[in-house]
Amino acid sequence: MDDPLAAIEPAVPGRRPPLRLIDEEAPARATEVSPETFRSAMARLAGAVTLVTARHEGADVGMTATAFLPVSAEPPLVLVSVGRPARMHRVLRATSYWGVSLLARHQRDLAANFARPSADDDGTRFDGLPLLRGPHTGVSLVDGALARFECRTYRMVDAGDHILIVGAVLGVDLASGGEPLLYFERDYRTLS
Ligand SMILES: Cc1cc2nc3c(=O)[nH]c(=O)nc-3n(C[C@H](O)[C@H](O)[C@H](O)COP(=O)(O)O)c2cc1C
Repeated sequence: MDDPLAAIEPAVPGRRPPLRLIDEEAPARATEVSPETFRSAMARLAGAVTLVTARHEGADVGMTATAFLPVSAEPPLVLVSVGRPARMHRVLRATSYWGVSLLARHQRDLAANFARPSADDDGTRFDGLPLLRGPHTGVSLVDGALARFECRTYRMVDAGDHILIVGAVLGVDLASGGEPLLYFERDYRTLS
């Protein structure tokens, strides 16, 4: 039988990477880790606070998110993890274009506002916000954010109660400076 690893370039010359089998059934098996324990542990993972934005049926939609990370530089790809029940999940199934603004330390109120349940949204959340319209996607992006990304969905991966959305980065807009807004132990923080 052909060696399935023969075509894979070894990371270290002469050494083959270990064979990894994907275990599709793993999430369905019993675990001793309760959701509460998992969330408590994850509360200790300090994260940068972002605002994910998109347009749906002619209106802006936004969601505060810390589950945002770089994936690839060439080509530029990023990932955001969105809860299955969130309105943003439905929106990102309906549109391929979205934006991410890395919030600055003074944008705590904005972050808290977009973390509220969307059922409470009376359609005025974006009113009065310092917004820019992304030239590549038309989505709203936050003025004063540390950086702004415009993305087009490249992959969507189901993962438990979340969906991982990988985006190709169509445009990046960098602020000249500033400090991030962080989230740690269920509270907003700043570097100093
Ligand atoms: C600091 C912070 C970070 C969050 N990060 C995420 C995230 O990465 N992904 C996500 O789906 N929800 C995240 N949430 C929760 C959503 O912001 C919130 O559930 C959502 O806006 C509620 O909308 P919904 O009513 O449509 O579900 C975060 C909340 C806070 C306060």
